Parts: sequence; structure tokens; C-alpha cells
Amino acid sequence: MTILKAIRGTRDMLPPETALWNHIEKTARQVFTRYNFGEIRTPIFEDTALFARGVGEETDIVSKEMYTWEDKARAQSEKTQMLTLRPENTAGVVRAYIEHGLGESGQLQKLYYVGPQFRRERPQKGRYRQFSQIGAEVIGPPSAGSESPLRDAEVLEMLASLLDELGITGWTLELNSVGSSADRARYNETLRAALVPVVGQMCVDCQRRAVTNPLRVLDCKVPADQPIIDTLPVIADSLDDASRAHFAAVTAALDAAGVPYTRNHRLVRGLDYYTRTTFEFTHGGLGAQNALLGGGRYDGLSEAIGGPKAPGIGFAMGEDRLVLTLLAQHEAALELAHAYIAPLGEGLNPAALALARELRRQGLRIELGEGSFRLKKSFEVADKTSRRIVILGEDELQSGILTVKTFATGMQTKVDRVELAAYLSTPTGE
Ligand code: HAM
Repeated sequence: MTILKAIRGTRDMLPPETALWNHIEKTARQVFTRYNFGEIRTPIFEDTALFARGVGEETDIVSKEMYTWEDKARAQSEKTQMLTLRPENTAGVVRAYIEHGLGESGQLQKLYYVGPQFRRERPQKGRYRQFSQIGAEVIGPPSAGSESPLRDAEVLEMLASLLDELGITGWTLELNSVGSSADRARYNETLRAALVPVVGQMCVDCQRRAVTNPLRVLDCKVPADQPIIDTLPVIADSLDDASRAHFAAVTAALDAAGVPYTRNHRLVRGLDYYTRTTFEFTHGGLGAQNALLGGGRYDGLSEAIGGPKAPGIGFAMGEDRLVLTLLAQHEAALELAHAYIAPLGEGLNPAALALARELRRQGLRIELGEGSFRLKKSFEVADKTSRRIVILGEDELQSGILTVKTFATGMQTKVDRVELAAYLSTPTGE
């Protein structure tokens, strides 16, 4: 019988890692409460039209990545409809805001959520088909101050505090403005014209984007295209006065609060609902999928799905990526030795001390074993204290070729003593 496994892109969360997930969620809830947010829980599936209209038909999410099915009517009173597992939660929150008339109170609604989202993307480190987001939205009628740049700055300051509180170090806040929808349309045309003479030298995806959605060219990661993209006009030059003033007010408030950021002119984000402020917090340790979180302002979203005018701003953090970052930091913080030297027999203790001295003098952090230990015990001690174990027996001493095992990968290899220090200095590649 074939063995059934979790579906590609989905994962089981097991202890002890689940404790870290709970810790992250608890910390986020505490921080959100301090900023006076309340929790909202929306259904995990919605009418497909919500995402088509809210996120945008042309986006990658809606055109390629959604889990959609036809839900057959079970009774005459029901109708067959197209349903979709939510790929993100902002559209659902705004639908709930409209459905429950939350704007009628005249107050700002400050809502947060924690839960699974689904996208049929190509799985890789930090990118899954079921993943969890922790997000928040600030939305309300303009009379409640929902358009104020202070709201943008407050959300960004809250995120900086939350990441600090979680102990995530080394993040970068990348900030941009995509302007009003009119600004964006104008920029799209500017970009379309600027691409005509150069697009022939670009990748096939960019050639397609140049026609369908020129803004997406800015997301291209192909190295050869980068010098060309760097010469394209930037969206900042297409913003109207009101959008410029809004952005200046956001950055002035961030400066006053001491929240560091960098302007990234290429940050246009992959969802159609954004207006004005867009942002991502990135982290170098994550590799290709380096966005810890993303968000921005969506002043027209409510109207796009049939609601009243209700400007808003929000974000969603990739909880899976927060966990990855914290685990990597934790490993680094364990301060493991570069290597544990295991002499095979007490007779090799002096040679082991000489080898340890040699390596330590080259700046390496070395744990010295004891020749009376059986190899199994040496491995146990080494695994707790060091990244690698170096085995030193009579043969190794004579030949100058040492056996080295890397714990993170389980890889075992032979290394010439002359090259040992250099080898032990390389990352373990986990
Ligand atoms: P997003 O940029 O599509 O925005 O996703 C936000 C975050 O979710 C990403 O930065 C990333 O950390 C995480 N994420 C996205 N896709 C995956 C995946 N396949 N695997 C793991 N993590 C992933 C939104 O979803 C917007 N709703 C954010 C927002 C809220 N904008 C305004 N309000």
C-alpha cells in the first residue's frame, strides 16, 4: 500500500517547534492589545469573486495561485458557486467590515488576525502552499482619520516594536509610495513607453509583463535584467502633490519616532489594491524569500468590492518566516565551537592537544575531547558543543588526512590537515 504523506507545500508542526509558534502568537497578541487592536476571525474560504475583485484578476495570486473549486448546490434553495481558500486575509476583513456595517460607528476599526492562508506557489525555503499569517488592518470612514499618514507611521512603528520584542535582529524596513490609482495608471504608461526600446534585451517574463502589466517588471529577479531596470523611470516622479505630501508626512513621523527605513523605489507589491504607502520588512537570513512581512495602504479596496469609502492600511507577517529567522538566530546564539577534536585512544591525547593548539592559533573555537572516551560518547558530547567533529586516530596522524563530520548536514569527508582550519571556518550549510 502506498504511504500517505502531507501534501507538497504543507507541513506538520511538531513540538518543540510548536512552542515557538505559540510564543510568537502570544507576543503579537500582547503588542496588538497595547495598540488597542481587537481580534477578527474570518472564514477560511470565501466567494472567489472577493479575491478576483479585491486582490485583482491580473495578479499572480488570483491568476495562478488560488485553490478554487465549484461548490455544488445541495438543495434547491442553494446555488452552485465558485469558492476559494483564502490566499490572504485583507479582502476577507474588508468584506466583514462592509457586511457588519463596522464603519457606521464612525470609529476607526483596528483588527488583527492569525491564521492559515493558501497559495499554489512553487515550494521552497520560506515559501509554502499552506502558510500562516499574523496581520492587522486599520480601516474606517475618512471622518475617523483613516487617511491620515499618522496611521501609516503608527502601524510601522508598531511593527518595529513587535519585531524587536520578538528578538528579531537585523531587519530592514523598505518603504515606498505607489500613489493614487491615477498616479499608478500614469506611471504604468510611462513605464510601458520606457520599456519599448529595451525590453527586447530582457527575460521572457519581462517581455510579457511589459505588455500586460509593466509595473511587475520591477519585481524581476533575473540578474542580467537588473542594470536595465535601474535605468527605468521611478514611480516617485509620477506621484501627484497629495501623494507626495502623504509620503513626506509618513517619513517625518517615522523620523520623529526613531524608526529606521530605506526608500525602495521598486517596491510596488504584488496585489492590486495598494495605494500610496507600501512597505516590506526584509531579513537577510531568509535567502530568496526575504520578506518577513508586507503591507500598505488600500484606500479604494472597500469601494472595489461594493462597500462605502473606507480607506485603510495594514500588513501581514509570514509566521513561518518569523519562525525560520528565530530558529537561525537561536542556532547562532548557541555559540557552538567550530570543531570538537576526538582522539581515538589516550595515546593520541598529546597529538590532539597539538592539533587543537594549531587550530586555536588560527582563530578557531575548538573543544578538545579525551582519548579514553568511546567514539559514541565523543559524538554525543561533540553534537552538543560543536558544529563539527574531527577524528584523530593513528592513521590520520600518520597520513595528515583527517575525517570531519558536519552535524547539521550529516556529511562526512576527508580533509588535509593543511586545509583543516579553512574547512572548519566555512558555514555548515544547514
Ligand atoms: P503578501 O506580501 O502577499 O501580502 O504576504 C505577506 C507576507 O506573508 C509575506 O511577506 C510573507 O512573509 C508571507 N507569505 C506570503 N506568501 C507566502 C508563502 N507562500 N509561504 C510563506 N509565507 C508567505 C498580503 O498577504 C497582504 N494581505 C498584506 C496586507 C495586509 N496588506 C495590507 N494589509
